[in-house]
Amino acid sequence: MTRYCQLTLIDRNGDAHSWQVPAGANLRQALLGQGFSPYTRYTQTLNCGGRGLCATCGVWITKGEPPARHWHDKAAQRFGYPRLSCQIRVEQDMQVEMVDKWVWGSRKKH
Ligand code: FES
Repeated sequence: MTRYCQLTLIDRNGDAHSWQVPAGANLRQALLGQGFSPYTRYTQTLNCGGRGLCATCGVWITKGEPPARHWHDKAAQRFGYPRLSCQIRVEQDMQVEMVDKWVWGSRKKH
């Protein structure tokens, strides 16, 4: 029996969107599958395809933040930067916010 988690996205306009994903779903794929891209116009095609190399798929996780497993995502979590959506599995209910990425280097939230 498949277990599902509630994934909520707060988009760049502040609007909330919620849907169910199978437990263990890849966050990047779950977002893209609903038409929500963590990328900018430029990195939409110039990214590593979810291999944890380019750091362009970052999102803020505001509820249900999981521990990091990937070295790059561990650094992001440790230093307070957006988490790499391609390296996160949705194992519990989670709320995610998109990152304003128009100024490089200003991604730190806190
Ligand atoms: S898509 Fe490249 S690090 Fe996530």
